[in-house]
Amino acid sequence: MKAVLEVEHLVTSFPGVGRGKTVRAVNDVSIVLHSGEIVGLVGESGCGKSTLGRSIVGLEKPESGRVIFDGVDLGSLSGNRLRAARRAVQYVFQDPYASLNDRQTVGEAIDEALIIVGVASKAERSARIGQLLDQVGLASAVRDRFTRELSGGQRQRVAIARSLAVEPRVLICDEPVSALDLSIRAQVMNLFLDLRDQLGVACLFIAHDLALVRQAATRVYVMYLGKIVEGGGSDEVYGRPSHPYTQMLLASVPEADPMIERRRKIPLIKGEIPSPTNPPSGCFFRTRCPLAVGECARIEPPTIFLTPTHRIACRFANEIAQKSLTDA
Ligand SMILES: Nc1ncnc2c1ncn2[C@@H]1O[C@H](COP(=O)(O)OP(=O)(O)OP(=O)(O)O)[C@@H](O)[C@H]1O
Ligand SMILES: [Mg+2]
Repeated sequence: MKAVLEVEHLVTSFPGVGRGKTVRAVNDVSIVLHSGEIVGLVGESGCGKSTLGRSIVGLEKPESGRVIFDGVDLGSLSGNRLRAARRAVQYVFQDPYASLNDRQTVGEAIDEALIIVGVASKAERSARIGQLLDQVGLASAVRDRFTRELSGGQRQRVAIARSLAVEPRVLICDEPVSALDLSIRAQVMNLFLDLRDQLGVACLFIAHDLALVRQAATRVYVMYLGKIVEGGGSDEVYGRPSHPYTQMLLASVPEADPMIERRRKIPLIKGEIPSPTNPPSGCFFRTRCPLAVGECARIEPPTIFLTPTHRIACRFANEIAQKSLTDA
């Protein structure tokens, strides 16, 4: 499969509390998105998921590393070529209330996006608005309604239609359903699956909800304190979690099947997330890790590939994977 988006060794920092302090919100992150795939990005609050997404689309300025779109390093582009590449990667925000203008009708909101991409003819734009509403599963009757009159789910659909107006190849979806009622989350989730199938749009899906990601994503990355600690196929990461942190995250999701629930042998999550301005030496996770040994404080964890696609930043990955096989 062809990579549509590659992120290489990306670092994004903010000034921290205290003089000369910095927060490395994204700390040497490398990830890949292939055309038409949904990839999950999960991790606790504050681990840097949004900053990674925002750095990819240019809402934050990375201090080093590369964002490569369709084989071209965005850092090497400027002017129209950069704008075109930026347009191809769209951000879908968590809050559909903040991302739309209350005083616009649905039609106007989408029309604005079409004007920005230079669809000059009014007739053409009108036809495209109808098509976009259809693509996001909204009836054409909502076109003349004000966005403030819509439900949360409908508003998120309008926001997605606006993003699609520029014909993006990649959507960075930052918790796009977590502000919605439980009952409509699944419907909006299904919309992302449809968009992938119908338009081939790739999607980096940021979420707290591991069950949701498992259902939608074919691959998943787990982030901790600015770093990717585990990445792989969803069946690999969920089926054979091999970083102690991934195991803890999964342990906090209740299992639907009581038989599996009883058999599970995963440590309980312990400890606070360390301050990002002052992360631990060696492995960042060691202060909460039940397996940590002296070496973990001295050297950064190696990256271990359990399969060509399943990578883990922990020296014990092989042992953990072996144990989860014998326990299963
Ligand atoms: N504009 C900013 N200025 C200073 N620090 C920031 C800024 N944005 C984010 N941070 C810090 O960077 C770190 C990562 O934040 P980020 O919002 O990317 O995390 P997140 O994983 O998206 O969290 P959540 O799940 O709560 O949305 C945090 O320590 C946060 O305080
Ligand atoms: Mg966030």
